[in-house]
Amino acid sequence: MCGIIGYVGFREARTVLLESLKRLDYRGYDSAGVAIIDKNLKVYKEIGEIANVEKKIPQLKGTTGVGHTRWATHGGVTKENAHPHLSCDKKIAIVHNGIIENYTKLKEDLKKKGHRFVSQTDSEVIAHLIDDVYKGNLEEAIFAAIKKIKGSYAIVAVSQDEPGKIVGVRNESPLVIGVGDSENFLASDITAFLKYTDRVMFLNDGELCVITANSIKVLNTNKKQIKKKEELITWDFTDAEKSGFPHFMLKEIYDQPDSIHHALRGRISEMEETITFPEPVEKLLKSEINSIHIVACGTSFYAGLVGKYLIEQHTNIPVFTEIASEYRYFGTRNESSLVIAITQSGETADTLAALREAQLSGSKTLVITNVIGSTATRIADGYILQQSGPEIGVAATKTFTSQIMVLFLIALKIALLQKKLGSDELYNYLFHLKALPRHVRDVLERSNDIIAIAKQLKDAKSVFFIGRGINYPLSLEGALKLKEISYIHAEGFAAGELKHGPFALLTKDTPVVAIVTQDETYEKILANIGEIKARGSPVIAIAEDKDTEIENHADFVLRFPVSSHVLPCIPITVVLQLLAYHVADLRKCPIDKPRNLAKSVTVE
Ligand code: M6R
Repeated sequence: MCGIIGYVGFREARTVLLESLKRLDYRGYDSAGVAIIDKNLKVYKEIGEIANVEKKIPQLKGTTGVGHTRWATHGGVTKENAHPHLSCDKKIAIVHNGIIENYTKLKEDLKKKGHRFVSQTDSEVIAHLIDDVYKGNLEEAIFAAIKKIKGSYAIVAVSQDEPGKIVGVRNESPLVIGVGDSENFLASDITAFLKYTDRVMFLNDGELCVITANSIKVLNTNKKQIKKKEELITWDFTDAEKSGFPHFMLKEIYDQPDSIHHALRGRISEMEETITFPEPVEKLLKSEINSIHIVACGTSFYAGLVGKYLIEQHTNIPVFTEIASEYRYFGTRNESSLVIAITQSGETADTLAALREAQLSGSKTLVITNVIGSTATRIADGYILQQSGPEIGVAATKTFTSQIMVLFLIALKIALLQKKLGSDELYNYLFHLKALPRHVRDVLERSNDIIAIAKQLKDAKSVFFIGRGINYPLSLEGALKLKEISYIHAEGFAAGELKHGPFALLTKDTPVVAIVTQDETYEKILANIGEIKARGSPVIAIAEDKDTEIENHADFVLRFPVSSHVLPCIPITVVLQLLAYHVADLRKCPIDKPRNLAKSVTVE
């Protein structure tokens, strides 16, 4: 939540900061602002979109500055609460991502010392704490300030008296250095500066960095300079562009034939009939595991539910899925359980807290994430990268299908280790997995059928999604996608549960989307559809191409291809994503930036 950027170099900071903020705005879009040293410190901030700030900034020659895009936590959406926040003399500017838990007390103390506050935010205390001890050396002042702060933060600051220098520090909020030639960057994530450089250094909690156009200095909590490894990012800048699509979400849905393929890349070998993960992951999967606990939030949690079905189907290990914010306080743990945290961003505060909790209790920890160098990768004993490429749209799409792919590989790997899977069966699975990108492409080519159904749904007040078995978590995900981007109330249910209560809500105006696969649940879900139709609700079935029976039961049918029953959940998900997208598009909703949401939820 909240995106921060700092730039120092040879380009006009105005252009770089605005450009970078536009790439970060998925982290929050309540307000935005920049501070640029142009002889003296100049600050521009506005509520709403970054374009509102852009309109107000004149051409400036300054080449050092900081910027922020806000997702409001403390204090309403007002210009005063927008970042950057300033010292009393307006010479020091800070941008902050995180939460300062003890800000009320700090604010009182600072007020008594004569500091004047203009906002209701927790962040403003940081500017005044620095100001309070500043004697011409920003890093010294920041070291002193953070000693007083309790909470999470990534802070980037500049001082008018030290032009050409930026200082950043982090604790439980992401901050990464972009390494350029005669220019350097600091940002909440890589996409902010990917246009300018693919060389990065990841900061750990407690580390502080001082960057100028030609130098990078990183200090640990003891103020001792440390050497940081420079890493090369393989994401392409164009991956973070809309590439002609009207929305990032649609582009990312269409990325899936590639991202699904990439989730397998470097991991499967049909020739050798193996599945291989990085060494620490191999070690974890080979260790004694009595149970698996999957912890995650939102869409990643639903991927975890899919994972439960997959792992339990192929191995004899029981899998418990727990919402990360609940696991943190109430989850059961033990040393022979493996805790798998799923988080595309690798920065979700609740998931990180659950992960830390699991480690404290001695469980082994594995992370599935899309972001190399993210905090999650540095906490866990091992991590598997989704290799999906950057996801900018707030609604998770391609990262969900990649998470499922990785979970399936984990299930197969454990089955191999447990000798529950023979090489012929593995060959067969891998063969069909490789066909999935083609099935997804097939669904994408049928988008006109989906648009036709979206037209039927666009004025609904409430939509239900139902499925059985592995299709149950898909119904939850289908409902989440629809509600978050179209603002239509939607709920997902295990199909058998409707008659235990939700039936009371069914009317002829409540469309029900039923996910139907020709497996052991087929007859039962047809019966459920019959029960729903008897209440007069229209049923839209998502069914296999080969299902000739379904038309006799449902009012409308959307089709997906299957050549076998290996992960039909992948093409089904794409149908659900396109359905939500087109409904939201017909309703003219701000698809990439739904109200009140942010891509990366870095507060608990
Ligand atoms: O980065 P994470 O995977 O940890 O994010 C978890 C959720 O915040 C996320 O999946 C959210 O539910 C999606 N934006 C929904 O589309």
